[in-house]
Amino acid sequence: MFKLLKYADKYKFYAFISPLLMIGEVIFELLIPQVMADIVETIRLTETTDPAIQQQAINTIFILGAKMLGLAVCSLLCGASAAIVASVAGMGFGSTLRGALVSRVQTFSFSNIDRFSTASLITRMTTDVNTVQNTFLMLIRGIFRAPIMLISALVICISKSKQVSSVFAVSLPIIVIVLAIAGPVAIKRFRAMLKMFDGFNASIQETLTNIRVVKTFVRTDYEKKKFKKANDELMGAALHAEKLIILGEPALMLIMSLTILAVVIIATKAIAEETLVVGEFTAIFTYIMQIIMSFLFTIMMVAQLFMSEASAKRIGEVLNEEADITDPENADTNVDDGSIEFKNVSFAYGKGKNILKNVSFKIESGEMVGIMGATGSSKSSLVQLIPRLYDTNEGDVFVGGKNVKSYHLQSLRDAVSMVLQKNVLFSGTIADNLRWGDENATDEEIREACAVADADSFVMSFPDGYNTDLGQGGVNVSGGQKQRLCIARAILKKPKILILDDSTSAVDTATDARIRAGLRQRIPDTTKIIIAQRVSSVSDCDKIIILDNGEINDIGTHEELLERNEIYKDIYTAQQKGSGDFDEQGGEL
Ligand SMILES: Nc1ncnc2c1ncn2[C@@H]1O[C@H](COP(=O)(O)OP(=O)(O)O)[C@@H](O)[C@H]1O
Ligand SMILES: [Mg+2]
Repeated sequence: MFKLLKYADKYKFYAFISPLLMIGEVIFELLIPQVMADIVETIRLTETTDPAIQQQAINTIFILGAKMLGLAVCSLLCGASAAIVASVAGMGFGSTLRGALVSRVQTFSFSNIDRFSTASLITRMTTDVNTVQNTFLMLIRGIFRAPIMLISALVICISKSKQVSSVFAVSLPIIVIVLAIAGPVAIKRFRAMLKMFDGFNASIQETLTNIRVVKTFVRTDYEKKKFKKANDELMGAALHAEKLIILGEPALMLIMSLTILAVVIIATKAIAEETLVVGEFTAIFTYIMQIIMSFLFTIMMVAQLFMSEASAKRIGEVLNEEADITDPENADTNVDDGSIEFKNVSFAYGKGKNILKNVSFKIESGEMVGIMGATGSSKSSLVQLIPRLYDTNEGDVFVGGKNVKSYHLQSLRDAVSMVLQKNVLFSGTIADNLRWGDENATDEEIREACAVADADSFVMSFPDGYNTDLGQGGVNVSGGQKQRLCIARAILKKPKILILDDSTSAVDTATDARIRAGLRQRIPDTTKIIIAQRVSSVSDCDKIIILDNGEINDIGTHEELLERNEIYKDIYTAQQKGSGDFDEQGGEL
């Protein structure tokens, strides 16, 4: 928790001023009961029969009353401004922390994100930051106020009546003991609850982002059940944690009430024995209330501090996660050409088994290369190594003759444009989306890129043309249209290497051919890698790589492979007969 305090640096001044104001508030508040005691004693004076003394007493009461009002107003002003200042600091801290988390996550590689899961990252950025922020707010509001109030009120109380104050010698330790026993259990349960939150968020996120698929497969009931399970689990864990607090509150209240009862009994006896005057007793009683309140607040503060420790730790994990793909020192910013070489590359996700085994091949700059293989043969994994979305476990990948690890990441990724298999468009107009490729692209450049991707004609057929709003996730266009827009977006980057990962699966064969012809004629110097399920999508490539179970099975031209490669021959004959797809499962999404 305290390690996170550096994110409150900008608000140091506020966080410092606020407690000062609070100390003012405490002083005024402590003075009030004393004035009250004087008033009570003066009221007793009015009971005399001497009219002169009576008049004098009434005057004094007015003066004292005004004094009390003045003190109350001062205390209120200090308290209110302290609270405002504290809120500014607290909210500022929260937003700085969120900002830090977002910029950290932006540096994460795909494998960093795999490690946390998106859902968990969301919980950490929302729920956890909120918890920490509330704790911070509570701390600046109470860290000085409560203890100072507690100690001063206690000291005044003791100086006024040792007899009455002796009650605290018993009740305060009892409370501390009870909390010392219950506290650690509560913290453990609270941590368990946060974990459930991750699961819950994961379930919601998956259902909502895929709501269309859920509906198509009429899985709403199943998803509802899944949600209910996650929700029930979360509620169970929350109840389990809250139970302690729910039970703890009345228990504390009971101890408090008993304390007050004991105080009243002892005080009554003291007044009867005339060791305590009534006026002093009213003051003492107010102090006792202040002692109890600030003691409770201190306890809550400590509890909150412990509970937020779990959240603070989870935030710290994200902030301290080293991005495992970073820019090297003296990074190269210039990618000379679009040549690619894999040298004995092996790769595994996380600590899993190798899904690419000893892969070596060479692609010359400007070549058009097809990659084919069954679903799960690691085609997508292989091409993700080129723009360094993941790092190899063994062997090296070279782009433009240099190791990809030697490049400045942005330069490399600007040079290697990739249309991911699970491509996405964002909300906004078509033109906005295309400008992701190049924010300064002119309208002509955008149309040119779309013409290559065979997208210009259908975009122009929309009433709003390039200003058509796509809606969230690009819901307003068909699958094939979306694929073509994604290709255009990638082309706009004017890359040296263009990778299309199954990017024409949803367009018809004729359009597919037009796109390839466009790529070949209009960007001849760009190296093009095409992952496809259809033989027709790769048959005119300069060479075709056949992947089988993470290993290179063969490399050759369409004619060479038809001659000698069994896998290629089989799939070609099958597709000639019209079954259409590379593997029996019928391709992939
Ligand atoms: N992010 C990931 N984390 C762990 N395993 C993955 C991940 N992505 C893919 N895999 C696994 O890697 C293997 C190859 O997947 P992939 O490269 O997507 O194959 P293809 O694109 O040829 O269908 C599969 O067994 C798949 O389950
Ligand atoms: Mg794939």
